[in-house]
Amino acid sequence: MTSALHDGFGRTIDYLRLSVTDRCDFRCVYCMAEDMTFLPRQQVLSLEELYRLAQLFVGQGVKKIRITGGEPLVRKGIVELCKHIATLPGLRELVMTSNGSQLPKLARPLAEAGVKRINISLDTLDPTRFHAITRTGQLAQVLNGIEAAREAGFQRIKLNTVVMKGRNADEVLDLVDFAVTRRLDITFIEEMPLGDVGRDRGESYCSSDEVRAQIATRYRLLDSTEQSGGPARYVRLEDHPDSRIGFISPHSHNFCATCNRVRLTVEGRLLLCLGHEHSLDLRDLVRRHPTDDQPILAALDQALLRKPQHHDFSVGGDIQVLRFMNASGG
Ligand code: GTP
Ligand code: 5AD
Ligand code: SF4
Repeated sequence: MTSALHDGFGRTIDYLRLSVTDRCDFRCVYCMAEDMTFLPRQQVLSLEELYRLAQLFVGQGVKKIRITGGEPLVRKGIVELCKHIATLPGLRELVMTSNGSQLPKLARPLAEAGVKRINISLDTLDPTRFHAITRTGQLAQVLNGIEAAREAGFQRIKLNTVVMKGRNADEVLDLVDFAVTRRLDITFIEEMPLGDVGRDRGESYCSSDEVRAQIATRYRLLDSTEQSGGPARYVRLEDHPDSRIGFISPHSHNFCATCNRVRLTVEGRLLLCLGHEHSLDLRDLVRRHPTDDQPILAALDQALLRKPQHHDFSVGGDIQVLRFMNASGG
């Protein structure tokens, strides 16, 4: 029998975001600084350690694991790891968030390995803007990745768009058109202040309400109470029943009251909240206790009591969390 994980505010934690690398082939302007250094190999959890921790969390009642990065598909052995995690008894869903660049070759193997749903970042449909936002990426590569994912048989594909004035906020309607004609979901995200990316994020801030108002000029929106087990609020479109439009609004609509998740960074730091620095060093615990799970479980129960009630992100101003998004597990 599994025991459930609870925090000090009565929330049940049944969703683990498992980062398998801090590396990425892109350098998105909201995620990283231009000149990044990545972790040396010995600081990174091995595939065996990642699997052991996934197993341990599922044993404690975790029902959904999302594989994240950096870009998870640049980690060697990722398909094999997914195959093993997918078969853990008690896990309902293995899902992934990716930048799409490796999907032309990996979409089918991943779907066959048991990854049920995939979220793919797509901020713009303009190749020049795409290159400006990702600094190293090519739009065509990601569009091919999205097509490969559509053919690979995932249960659902969701696009993620971080909306920024002056970069892509005027493309919201085009992105919705792109999603609905392919029967995909799309989520619009307010940029979060993680790490010093060398610009004032407040200057490009665009609220979800503004995005929603833009969409309402072309589509009839129907409010929905649907949940994906994540922070997004969804609407449906009257004439396009196969797509959902999501809003992740850390600034304008706080979603922390229903938080059900923790993150494990690839260094083995268990982050209790994206917006706080506090973490538990699980790498040290798994390396000190290679066969005995009990000390790890005891530390985990204690750590969860320190999960904060909510994040305190504000728009612009000082850097609020020093860690970059790629080192946070997305
Ligand atoms: P679903 O499981 O399909 O709902 O996925 P998701 O939208 O939660 O996951 P995804 O990896 O696609 O993340 C989309 C955005 O939500 C990213 O910007 C994440 O950083 C953000 N996000 C996910 N979980 C949290 C959270 O607990 N707190 C905050 N502040 N942001 C989160
Ligand atoms: N704020 C909001 N979303 C972000 N992402 C990366 N950095 C940020 C940020 N600072 C998104 C990416 C990807 C997901 C993992 O997180 O677009 O879809
Ligand atoms: Fe890479 Fe994703 Fe960060 Fe972009 S947002 S740099 S694709 S990890």
